[in-house]
Amino acid sequence: MTDKNTKLWDGRFTEATDAFVESFTASIEFDHVLALYDIEGSIAHATMLQSVGIITNNELGAMVEGLNGIAEDIKQGTMEWSISLEDVHMNIESTLTDRIGEVGKKLHTGRSRNDQVATDIRLYLRDAIDNILHKIRDLQHGILDLATNETETIMPGLTHLQIAQPISFAHHLMAWFEMVDRDIERMQDCRKRVNTMPLGSAALAGTTYPIDRTMTAKLLGFDQIAGNSLDAVSDRDFAIEFCAASSILLMHLSRWAEEMILWTSPQFGFISLPDRFCTGSSIMPQKKNPDVPELVRGKTGRVFGSLISLLTLMKGQPLAYNKDNQEDKEPLFDTVNTVLDCLTAFSDMIPAIEPQREQMRLATLKGFATATDLADYLVKKGLPFRDAHDVVGRLVAVGLEQDLDLSELSLEQFTSMSSLIEEDVFDVLTLEGSLSARNHHGGTAPAQVKLAIEQARSRLG
Ligand code: ARG
Repeated sequence: MTDKNTKLWDGRFTEATDAFVESFTASIEFDHVLALYDIEGSIAHATMLQSVGIITNNELGAMVEGLNGIAEDIKQGTMEWSISLEDVHMNIESTLTDRIGEVGKKLHTGRSRNDQVATDIRLYLRDAIDNILHKIRDLQHGILDLATNETETIMPGLTHLQIAQPISFAHHLMAWFEMVDRDIERMQDCRKRVNTMPLGSAALAGTTYPIDRTMTAKLLGFDQIAGNSLDAVSDRDFAIEFCAASSILLMHLSRWAEEMILWTSPQFGFISLPDRFCTGSSIMPQKKNPDVPELVRGKTGRVFGSLISLLTLMKGQPLAYNKDNQEDKEPLFDTVNTVLDCLTAFSDMIPAIEPQREQMRLATLKGFATATDLADYLVKKGLPFRDAHDVVGRLVAVGLEQDLDLSELSLEQFTSMSSLIEEDVFDVLTLEGSLSARNHHGGTAPAQVKLAIEQARSRLG
C-alpha cells in the first residue's frame, strides 16, 4: 500500500485527514476483493453513459481500455492500492485518471459510491452463490457415490443417541443429501433477490441524467432493477439472507461432522477416514484425530457470528446509506470463504469414507433394535399396539436380565409373555427383515433407498 494523499472529495476541506482517521475509515485492505466486479460495473455504466449521449464514443473507448488494463494488473497482482484513496472504488477511479487523463474524471457521472458499492457486492455475491451451488452439488454426488454401495449395510438408527431401530447406512447418508438439497433451494431463492441492480440510485435520490437502467442491468446480467433508490443504496438484507442460508447449511454440515466424529471414535467404529484427512497427536502415539470434521463443526460458529454481525449492523440504521455499511464486507467475505472451504473439505472426504460394516452390524445387534418390529408383529396378530408395547417391554426386561438379544430368547420365553407369539416370530427379529418391512416411500427398506438414490441421481443430472 502506498500513500498518495490525494482525495477525490477534498474540495471543501481545509486540512488534511488525520492519519488515524484515514486508516480507520479506509476499506481498501478488504474491499479490494470487489475490484474486478467494480470494473465490470464501471464498464457497463460507461457503456450506458455513451449510449444515452452523456460521454462520447472516444471517451468510452479510452475508459474501457484503461479499466481493462487495470483489471489485468489486478489479476497479475501488480496493482498498487493506496490507503489514502480509502476504498476500491476511489483507488480504481483515481488510477484510471492517472492512466487515461482527464476523461477518467467523467466515469463517475450519474453515479455515487453508494450505488456502486451495493452493485459490486451483489455481483460478488451472485458469483459466490453460483460457486457454492456448484460445490453443494459436488458434495451430493459424493454422497450418492458412497450410498450406492451401502443400501444393504445395516447400522443402528439412533434416537437420543441410543439404539432405536435398524436402518440402512445408505438411508442415513441420503438424509444428509436431503438436508443440503434444501440448502440449494435456499441459496437459489436468495440469489433471486441478490440479482437486483442498485445502479442508477446514485447517492440516495437517483440522478438528474437521462440514464438507461434497463441497459446497464442487461449488461451486468441483473434480473431486475431496484425500485427505490433509498432502499437500494442502504439495505443489506440480501447479504443477511445469504448469511442465514449459509448458517443453516453450516448447521447441517456440523451435524454430519458430529456424526463422523462419533462414528470414527473407537467406541463406535462405524467408519474410518483415510489417513490423509486426519492428524495425529504430538504426545499420544495411538491417536488418529478427525480434524477435518472437527474444524467444519468449529467453523460453523464464525458463520453464525457473521449472521449476527450483519443483523446487528443493520438494526436501527436510518435511511439511506451510512458508513456503518462498510462493515458489511468482512463478515460477508468470511462467510463465503468459510462455506466454500467447508464444502471443499467434505466433497473430498465423504466419498472416501470407509464403512466398517461388521462393526455397524454388531452394534445393531445390541440394544434391542427390533423391539418395535416385535410389537408390530403382535399388532398384526390382533393385539392393540399399547398392549403389544407392554409385552415387548417385559420381554426386553428379560433380555436385559439375562444379557440376551430378543432374537436369542427361546420360543417358551416368548409364549410365556403372550400366547399370540409363534415360531414365525424369529423372522421379524432379523435385522434384514426389519429393514425390508419398511417398504414405502421414504422408508429404510433397501429397495426404497435404491429408488431414492436413483431419483436423486437423475434430479442432480
Ligand atoms: N467504502 C464504502 C463502503 O464500503 C463505499 C461507499 C462510501 N460512500 C460514502 N458515502 N462514504 O461502504
